[in-house]
Amino acid sequence: MLRIGIMGATGYTGLELLKILGRHPVAQIAWLTSESNAGQCFGQVFPVPPPVADLPLFALAEADLSAADVVFACLPHAAAQAPVAAALAAGARVVDLSADYRLHDATNYQAWYGVPHTQPALLAEAVYGLPELHRTQIKGARLIANPGCYPTSVILGLSPLARGGWLKGTVIADSKSGVSGAGRSPSLKTHFVEANENISPYSIGRAHRHLAEMEQELGAQSGAQSGAQSGDEPGQGAESPFQVVFSPHLLPVNRGILSTIYVNLPEGVTEAEVREAYRTMYAGEPFVYLLRPGEVATLNHTVNTNFCAIGLTFVPGTPTLIVTASIDNLIKGASGQAVQNMNLMCGLDETCGLK
Ligand SMILES: NC(=O)c1ccc[n+]([C@@H]2O[C@H](COP(=O)([O-])OP(=O)(O)OC[C@H]3O[C@@H](n4cnc5c(N)ncnc54)[C@H](OP(=O)(O)O)[C@@H]3O)[C@@H](O)[C@H]2O)c1
Repeated sequence: MLRIGIMGATGYTGLELLKILGRHPVAQIAWLTSESNAGQCFGQVFPVPPPVADLPLFALAEADLSAADVVFACLPHAAAQAPVAAALAAGARVVDLSADYRLHDATNYQAWYGVPHTQPALLAEAVYGLPELHRTQIKGARLIANPGCYPTSVILGLSPLARGGWLKGTVIADSKSGVSGAGRSPSLKTHFVEANENISPYSIGRAHRHLAEMEQELGAQSGAQSGAQSGDEPGQGAESPFQVVFSPHLLPVNRGILSTIYVNLPEGVTEAEVREAYRTMYAGEPFVYLLRPGEVATLNHTVNTNFCAIGLTFVPGTPTLIVTASIDNLIKGASGQAVQNMNLMCGLDETCGLK
């Protein structure tokens, strides 16, 4: 059995993890944490049936870190830095769902997240946990930085183009997310009356923090310098053959992300070559599927699953390719991918608990 600890179990990603791990053949919950609900049991926070309802909640300081083989950190960014280091020191493998270990460079982290990184040595060790890109490194890792939800859809949607050297100029990612993407703490933006029957763009252009990891990962694959590098101010790109303009929107649904991404292909690159690049990269991938020509990805292709669905639309008479990529933000965009990473780290079948 694998003993599991979840830090920040009373958020939406924690709830989703518990659902997935409940179906997992070798996972056994060792402890769960919550600061504001410590001393209660999980069923007092979420309406779930036993036995999950009866699991006790501990404050982080009271959790027995050494009682877990694998720790999932489902904490807000900045709050995860020190607890992740403590779990590693106690001998656990860690999957961090926050943004704290996704960027390779501490200066870049501070520029985007507004706080210093207190564990720069661990930043160098952390593996960006997108199995379709880094499966080999994930298998030997102690610390996985689970990717952001929007970046999962955009990076999977664009990676075959980055590898082909076909990302040039401005790439526009227009992304839409269900409200659970903002976490469980209520805010004006996620208030029912504000979100329902409405669609709101926010942090559009080059202002959203997820841009940094998108360009880090796409830049590395294209062999180019990332456009969001150490020392950049947020919103300013360095030398790069491409720049992502990223416009997230809040959708009035509970869950799901759809990214519609516009790319101008370089002259001479054909539809057949591009389709072949996508087929080659994703052949055999258990959780990425390509739609047939003429089909576009929708939320319904992936909601409640660990899949990413990708559609390719070539606009006749123009160099424009429109990539549509959908995921469930809480599963492939968070907890499902986290379990996929745990499976790989622990030498299990990658799909355990996920199909
Ligand atoms: N929601 C998504 O779709 C999604 C997708 C990908 C990644 N993520 C990332 O995953 C992480 C968790 O997201 P979420 O949506 O589950 O968030 P959430 O619903 O807001 O839950 C956050 C959890 O952390 C605990 N917490 C909050 N502040 C804390 C602190 N200072 N110290 C210790 N515990 C604290 C909360 O419980 P108490 O308040 O009781 O302590 C709660 O259990 C975030 O970093 C988020 O950016 C989320």
